[in-house]
Amino acid sequence: MNKDSTVVVRPARSVAGSLRLPGDKSISHRYAMLAAIAEGTTRLENFSTGADCASTLGCLRALGVDVQRKETVVIRGRGPSLQSPGSPLDCGNSGSTMRMLSGILAGQKFTSELTGDESLSRRPMARIITPLEMMGAKIIAQNGGRPPLRVTGGELKAISYSMPVASAQVKSCLLFAGLFAERETSVVEPVHTRDHGELALRAFGAEATQSGNESRIKGRQPLHAIDAEIPGDISSAAFFLCATALFPGAELVIDGLLMNPTRARLLDILILLGVGISVTQLEEQRGELRGTVKAQGRGLGTLTITGADTAALIDEIPVLAAIAPYTVGGIEIRDARELRVKESDRIAAIATNLRAMGAQVEEREDGLKIPGGQKLHGAEVDSLGDHRIAMAFAIAALRAEGETQIRGADAAVISYPGFFAALESVLQR
Ligand code: S3P
Repeated sequence: MNKDSTVVVRPARSVAGSLRLPGDKSISHRYAMLAAIAEGTTRLENFSTGADCASTLGCLRALGVDVQRKETVVIRGRGPSLQSPGSPLDCGNSGSTMRMLSGILAGQKFTSELTGDESLSRRPMARIITPLEMMGAKIIAQNGGRPPLRVTGGELKAISYSMPVASAQVKSCLLFAGLFAERETSVVEPVHTRDHGELALRAFGAEATQSGNESRIKGRQPLHAIDAEIPGDISSAAFFLCATALFPGAELVIDGLLMNPTRARLLDILILLGVGISVTQLEEQRGELRGTVKAQGRGLGTLTITGADTAALIDEIPVLAAIAPYTVGGIEIRDARELRVKESDRIAAIATNLRAMGAQVEEREDGLKIPGGQKLHGAEVDSLGDHRIAMAFAIAALRAEGETQIRGADAAVISYPGFFAALESVLQR
């Protein structure tokens, strides 16, 4: 990632056209990790093009897994035993890689070290360390549970664990570790988060069950390779859907888009804001729904996002906040303390950048209140090395007066390297 990269975004008149997006990041990580410990060869089409998923593939290679990547990602599974890596596993910027891979490493009979970049080195890992140690793994972390992590795995025992924070990464980490434990592991989450881990385990042939907020996995189950096409990333789509929402009369179609109900809350929220949304050609593959989404801009109302909605929209909040000043009644975001421990402190980053563009914003410990009916001007904003902040402010810039310079815009490569080109392709000026 080039920290000094600056992209200039000029205002647009409207959005029109159609897109198809690279595969969902959450599913790509999980399919790759499970393919590595499955029997047989897995072929994945439309694998995420982002640097985060490349970090996962790099770690798997370092663990002795044969991973080939051309159009298709081909992974020859090793079965449950990976190879001890000769050097630290570099997770780059990817919290998903570090947290979910730790679940698999907890079941391996060797010690591995997981490292990350400056941002990942600040992120909390106690949330996986505590339950993985209850299962029998030994984990050494730095100051107060921060990376790098040294994970010594081995025989694990099943646990019943009530997660204090809503985190799908932690849930998947524990379900993956549960594969290496005797008997059944149960994980209860405070609110229901994305269920890609459970669906992926089932896709690879394991019995994994879900009821209410509890997910269970029986240990010592063999996994079997799959062929799959990964649906388009709905968190990447959020930027284009919000861009469309900014312009009355705009129309955009995105096909092959992930429609998993635990990820598609954004569509309901856009409808509540007044955006025209229709979904056609729904189909399911390996438990994951996909469909064609048509969005039509019609003006933007008012919105409050709280509780379970905040958890369901956690990756989409930066862009919803970025369009908030252009709504009629504003957007209020509550219960979002987790945003402070993402790739950047996203609450602070949103407030600082919106203010640089001339907006009035109330920053709170666990959220933001952004009044509507505001006029923004172009300004110099900073991604703080955070992909979703870089992309969110490209969208805010579309209705500002004058140009916006996004410093560190290259951070977009973390989830969507083609983002700025794809955005240009649907803008009307
Ligand atoms: C993810 C879960 C979320 C999300 C992240 C991807 C996943 O993180 O922000 O981008 O794939 O499980 P948390 O689990 O930390 O909330």
